[in-house]
Amino acid sequence: MSASSVQKTTEFTNTNLEILYSAEQIAARVRELGAQIARDYAEKDLIVIGVLKGSCIFMADLIRATDLPLAIDFMSVSSYKDGTKSTGDVEILKDLSQPIRGKDVIVVEDIVDTGLTLFRLMEILGSRGANSIKIASLLDKPEPRIKKELKIDYCGFQIPNKFVVGYGLDVAGRYRNLPFIGVVVNPTMA
Ligand code: IMP
Ligand code: MG
Repeated sequence: MSASSVQKTTEFTNTNLEILYSAEQIAARVRELGAQIARDYAEKDLIVIGVLKGSCIFMADLIRATDLPLAIDFMSVSSYKDGTKSTGDVEILKDLSQPIRGKDVIVVEDIVDTGLTLFRLMEILGSRGANSIKIASLLDKPEPRIKKELKIDYCGFQIPNKFVVGYGLDVAGRYRNLPFIGVVVNPTMA
């Protein structure tokens, strides 16, 4: 291959992605959220619960920005869909590995869209005797919200009603490893 050959785009430089938040912008916001959580949860018995898989990257960074003793756990749920619409029914695919009775819980999500999944998950966790349960979501997409009463206590960014990927978020399993959050320009293009 000659040195003058056109440089190929890669997964991270895919021209079908428009950057919404850069890795640096995300890191700065996550640091702020971690500092806020550290102030709010000093002296508390904190357990941070990640909702798999989308929250994994945000959670990994958030807990490292939270300078407190804390424990972590994970849940995996699948939302039942009626065609393409979420019905609000969730099936627990992987439950917590420990009780949360008496603990102060933060549930970490990638994005709250209709809010149906998280609302139901909060009902399920709410019946387990935790001292408190709050929500941290990297992204909040308020426009399609059905469960308007759902309160996001720690929110990274509010975004417009667009489909976003990266930093944990996927489309059909792809793009979770992007270091930034992007909008897929043409969803029919690979
Ligand atoms: P909802 O709030 O019950 O509608 O569902 C939220 C879930 O849908 C999130 O946890 C994501 O897995 C997925 N989701 C919603 N909007 C997006 C998006 O823009 N990109 C990637 N996944 C999304
Ligand atoms: Mg999710």
